[in-house]
Amino acid sequence: MSFRIKGTTALVTGANRGIGEAIVEAIIAAGAARVYAGARNLTDLDVLAARHGARLVPVKLDVTRPADISAAVAGAPDLQLLVNNAGVAAHVGGSFTDARWIEAGREEMEVNFFGTLSLTQAFAPVLARNGGGAIVNLGSVASLVNFPLFVAYSASKAAAHSITQAARIMLKSQGTQVFGVYPGPIDTRMAEGVPFDKTSAPVAARAIVEGIEAGTEEIFPDPMSRSMGAAYLADPKGLERQVAAMAA
Ligand SMILES: NC(=O)c1ccc[n+]([C@@H]2O[C@H](COP(=O)([O-])OP(=O)(O)OC[C@H]3O[C@@H](n4cnc5c(N)ncnc54)[C@H](OP(=O)(O)O)[C@@H]3O)[C@@H](O)[C@H]2O)c1
Repeated sequence: MSFRIKGTTALVTGANRGIGEAIVEAIIAAGAARVYAGARNLTDLDVLAARHGARLVPVKLDVTRPADISAAVAGAPDLQLLVNNAGVAAHVGGSFTDARWIEAGREEMEVNFFGTLSLTQAFAPVLARNGGGAIVNLGSVASLVNFPLFVAYSASKAAAHSITQAARIMLKSQGTQVFGVYPGPIDTRMAEGVPFDKTSAPVAARAIVEGIEAGTEEIFPDPMSRSMGAAYLADPKGLERQVAAMAA
């Protein structure tokens, strides 16, 4: 199955910068009729709103706040495409016994897992009423194998991958297509200081839109994720050994 973006109505969380902003641009370029752009601070959307006029609807949306989510659902009754992009990497680097993995992990689970699950639960009935639609969840190559630089973030992204599978299985009967996106390093604030070659956010966002329109359930939008994604699909244990060798 494929999902045609032209003429649809989409919501992107964490739309004010990074991959989220680039996905908004790519979805609009693909012909979306309206994009609800979610951000914790509405003023962070001023530039996007000025660029796109009435096609872009700013939405105050912290994905950890139930009141924000309820208001977003009430304000977007025509939604057909939900993009769960908002994410956080709260702690990077350290030994396995670093106590900060615990504190950071709680925040990462709140945003990356519970935020994704909450938005998906809240909008599933809206998507059903609008013909099924589609959900796109931003995981990471770290969903597929744990990267020791990102111990707790990787676990939160594995949880997001798991909920992506659950949504795909459980929302199929209402006609909702569910896509998982598993990027490698993308050149955004989140990846500042990550010691790998990075793909630009606009290039990754165009690959994500192409994947949605092609009906590709697992989308690998950059060279590293394409290589690691292929390794994961062929031999998950081999990928773990590959990352262990990189870490060493
Ligand atoms: N960059 C990479 O290398 C990479 C690789 C794999 C996967 N990803 C994933 O791609 C997604 C986008 O990441 P990015 O690289 O664009 O990161 P980014 O530049 O740090 O942007 C993160 C976005 O998420 C928003 N956000 C954080 N907490 C939020 C919350 N509680 N409610 C609503 N929005 C929240 C941020 O809003 P504020 O501006 O208010 O903080 C920001 O808009 C994330 O899910 C990330 O895990 C990124």
